Amino acid sequence: MIIRSSNANPIQPSEITSEALFHGRRDWIKSTIAMGGAALLPGLAACGAEAQGVRLAGVKPNPQFLATDIDKLNKADEFKSYCNFYEFGTDKSDPPVMAKSLKTRPWTVAVEGEVNKPQVFDIDALYKLAPLEERVYRFRCVEAWSMVIPWVGIPLAELIKRVEPRGNAKYVEFVTLADKAQMPGLRSSVLDWPYVEGLRMDEAMHPLTLLTFGAYGEMLANQNGAPVRMVVPWKYGFKSGKSIVKIRFVEKEPRTAWVKAGPSEYGFYSNVNPMVDHARWSQASERRIGEFSKRKTLMFNGYANEVASLYAGMDLKKFI
Ligand code: MTE
Repeated sequence: MIIRSSNANPIQPSEITSEALFHGRRDWIKSTIAMGGAALLPGLAACGAEAQGVRLAGVKPNPQFLATDIDKLNKADEFKSYCNFYEFGTDKSDPPVMAKSLKTRPWTVAVEGEVNKPQVFDIDALYKLAPLEERVYRFRCVEAWSMVIPWVGIPLAELIKRVEPRGNAKYVEFVTLADKAQMPGLRSSVLDWPYVEGLRMDEAMHPLTLLTFGAYGEMLANQNGAPVRMVVPWKYGFKSGKSIVKIRFVEKEPRTAWVKAGPSEYGFYSNVNPMVDHARWSQASERRIGEFSKRKTLMFNGYANEVASLYAGMDLKKFI
């Protein structure tokens, strides 16, 4: 994203690579079987054929968030093969190949900082904090492409309630894994690792904000941020940190990886806003992956009714 390019919308559907590249989960499933199989994974049911991935059990579609004729689902293959995950390389086709090395079990998420009940959650305990929901959200990348994804997760607010934030917790910081042994992209200084993102408390508590474990009814593929990532549908995609290991409640606005890399291009808020161009390209329209013509970008990615009030009185040209 930080690399300068004169081409405003460089993504062609033809660039999307085939799902044949996608073998990472096979390794994971093999290691799960070696550990004793799906019985070790409460809430999960492994399906027989490796190639079909690991289905998440007990997922209920949330009727408020379904696919529509206008917002049809992208194909799972598009989602899994066209990725941004710089820890595994900066090319869209790098993560599906390179993220095979990511080990997603055992995995813990430390929740700490300005809270009364700091806790370290085992990933399989996080799955059980609340009923797993499927929610179809539009997902808009700052690079002016978008997809429509059926995510599986729980409201982040369910986790936040349990750790009891103190009054001085004003922001939530998400720290993602930075392990040189598993992530070849860390050799590059394109970002200041680890990848850190953040939200204001009211954004983090908002019912749309999803702590996400899966998509298309399956556990997240490694390249899509297994075993747990954020999804904040009214913000540009880079706010959705992948492979989270720490969630910190803090008093001051976190210095995120992208704010450090380019504060004038990737602000802390990063609300999808067709009226505010990126420093190097327009944000007025976007290309839905799989479609040829562009569509107009919607304010807050189409979620204005739900979230505009969070920013009442703020100059959204200043607080980008
Ligand atoms: N999280 C981490 N840890 N590293 C990254 O490079 N890229 C971000 C975001 N989360 C990124 C990340 C960007 S720029 C986007 S657009 C989305 O992940 C892409 O998510 P997807 O590849 O699953 O569609």
